Amino acid sequence: MRFEGAGRQQNFDIATVGPRNNETRPRWSAADGNKSAILAKLRKSTGMKPMITIRPARAGDADALPDIEQSAGLAFRAIPELAWLADGDNVSPQRHRELIAEGTCWIAVDDKDRPVGFLSAGIEGETLHIWEFDVRLNRQGSGIGRALLERAIKDARRRGLAAVTLTTFRDVAWNAPFYRKFGFHILEGAEIDERLASLLSGEAEHGMPAARRCAMRLELAKPDTR
Ligand SMILES: CC(C)(COP(=O)(O)OP(=O)(O)OC[C@H]1O[C@@H](n2cnc3c(N)ncnc32)[C@H](O)[C@@H]1OP(=O)(O)O)[C@@H](O)C(=O)NCCC(=O)NCCS
Repeated sequence: MRFEGAGRQQNFDIATVGPRNNETRPRWSAADGNKSAILAKLRKSTGMKPMITIRPARAGDADALPDIEQSAGLAFRAIPELAWLADGDNVSPQRHRELIAEGTCWIAVDDKDRPVGFLSAGIEGETLHIWEFDVRLNRQGSGIGRALLERAIKDARRRGLAAVTLTTFRDVAWNAPFYRKFGFHILEGAEIDERLASLLSGEAEHGMPAARRCAMRLELAKPDTR
């Protein structure tokens, strides 16, 4: 997966991510003429997927997010005891609009600006808390989640926040083990503050298997002010 320079497009807040398996970028020569036809050919022959752009979500994106959550959740059908999660309720567009208004929701769109994933968070005290994080089932495993998470962490740093937190499954490959790769650690016992403890117990009340759930935290280095 590769980022191209933010600011390539008008909005400095936009970054693009290419397909992870495509290590070589197409090189265009003056004789290329019709670049999009060549790109289409290249995609067909290499299985290369279109470029994905990560940008802040807009209010108009909110209605598309529950459908992405629904699709993403189908991944849990692969785990028999958690398969029921695929049929759970989704976050409402209204709630998405609130988080979008806070400027803490980022969306991944394809080359036609169709949303394929999002990360929705909110600021809780000195932390950025990730509420919902989903990539369409048929786009999972291609680096989009990584790009969204990197974008959220970068934003939390820019805001001078102390940490990023979330709750997730300890033993699902695309949950805690994925966040660990970014430096998140699982909080145990007294490390779990009141806010996160209350989220975990709320989840348990809604039928989540408490022993498999955990709270995670990524400490953010404070900028050196000396
Ligand atoms: C979690 C999620 C948003 C990650 O998005 P993604 O686009 O699939 O993530 P990436 O392609 O960037 O993969 C990142 C890591 O996830 C893990 N991963 C993703 N899909 C996986 C799968 N099907 N099986 C095993 N590991 C997987 C890998 O560890 C991968 O790390 P790598 O890049 O070192 O191989 C996405 O898998 C998803 O929507 N899952 C269902 C909903 C969910 O669990 N959301 C998170 C709630 S806390």
